[in-house]
Amino acid sequence: MATASPYLTSDQNSFAYTSACKRWPVIITQAIDAVFRAIPGPSDKDKTKEGRKIVEELAKLKYEVQHNRALTPLQDDGLPDISHYNDALATLGEPTWLGVSWLFAECYLYRRIATYFRLANSWNDFDVFLASKLKALRSSLSAILELANRYPTVTEPADFADPEASAIFHEIFLICLWGNATDLSLLTNLSHDDIQSLQGSQARKESEKNILANDLDKIYSLLTDLKQSKEGDRRVDIVLDNSGFELFVDLYLAGYLLSQGLATHIVLHPKNHPWFVSDVLPSDFGILLNALRDPVDFFVTQSEAEDEHKPKLNEEGANSIKKLFESLSSHHAEGKLSIRPNAYWTLQDPFWSLASEENADLWNDLKSSELVIYKGDLNYRKLTGDAAWEPTTPFEVALGPIGKASGCRTLALRTCKADVVVGLPEGTDERLRKEDSDNANEPEKRKWSWSGKYAVVQFYDGKSS
Ligand code: F6P
Ligand code: MG
Repeated sequence: MATASPYLTSDQNSFAYTSACKRWPVIITQAIDAVFRAIPGPSDKDKTKEGRKIVEELAKLKYEVQHNRALTPLQDDGLPDISHYNDALATLGEPTWLGVSWLFAECYLYRRIATYFRLANSWNDFDVFLASKLKALRSSLSAILELANRYPTVTEPADFADPEASAIFHEIFLICLWGNATDLSLLTNLSHDDIQSLQGSQARKESEKNILANDLDKIYSLLTDLKQSKEGDRRVDIVLDNSGFELFVDLYLAGYLLSQGLATHIVLHPKNHPWFVSDVLPSDFGILLNALRDPVDFFVTQSEAEDEHKPKLNEEGANSIKKLFESLSSHHAEGKLSIRPNAYWTLQDPFWSLASEENADLWNDLKSSELVIYKGDLNYRKLTGDAAWEPTTPFEVALGPIGKASGCRTLALRTCKADVVVGLPEGTDERLRKEDSDNANEPEKRKWSWSGKYAVVQFYDGKSS
């Protein structure tokens, strides 16, 4: 298999280095604040004691990251993936935070944080990033409303020979793509106004020129052809990324595909631990669906904003959101929309390991789907091994064993928030290093690819090759 070396936290030209030095300490500090605020005090002595211990452990972790100490074996919290991490760590020797592969270190960071909670009885299911996720979801009301208002139109039975139907299809996938721009691990201080400016139809139109590779026409042909030619089950899987607005648009896409008969079953794959701050946990579904079921309560009554800044939601708007909720919950009740957690998604492995013997169950399951959609940046890093490929390397080459002749169809919907990128036309990377305003002063770096401003939509059909 063709290969390239993984990005390292020691590489000062890579976003790996900035992430390790600047972003991770901020994220750990936010976690410390969240635990601190949730410590109950004298009313619950056991929980308070455990909470203080978690705060100490987080502070120690932050110190180790900031002082480039060694990564230590994870404590055994009873789950089988701990040995997978610790075995890999042992083979790396005793790497330090600034001397290890970026992908390994970042997954290890979140898995290590999870052990602190798993090992504390009273904090077992505490989502340390929940407050920031809820705040971001509340700030997404106007984009949610815009899309809910359009839902009845986009789900009206369409004639897929009509260019208008094709335009709507493309637009919904692009909504789903750009929904990834608002993740909270990158944008640690996202304000209400920032969120509004990243969402909505205007922002999408302006961003279209920033899609550097776009295989959506192939997806349109695939799903419309299958609708005509294939009887029985036609499943589409979504390997999820972030909760909040991104999960909302993923469910919106799911509702659209089911209503139009472009899929008969949608399977959603969340994470098992609080992950990269905003990633979807099974509990995030309930939170989002409750918000859509009773939008006034979630978006207005529970909002912390004072009187004149309180979000406004009139009866008509609330009804549109509730109708969308009803459509999604009826798909769920009919068994057409399901959630399938798996510990694999919080391993440190590149997705190349999906095709190995030990992951055969999951891999066979994914192969039985018509299309597997991977959302977001981290999933893209894992699809490509988070490695320093030439940017013109074909997507299927970077997919390695899950690419050519793999029996699986892969679609990446990714806004670029890391160095790795493949499948670009000749000259694009060089041009952006010179022309992008964030990059022009440091052309030795690939800064254009760090902020979520550019995106790629890349497809490879491993069933027909
Ligand atoms: O690049 C910043 C970063 O936090 C990466 O560490 C990670 O790959 C990514 O953003 C998370 O983004 P997403 O939610 O799109 O996977
Ligand atoms: Mg994420």
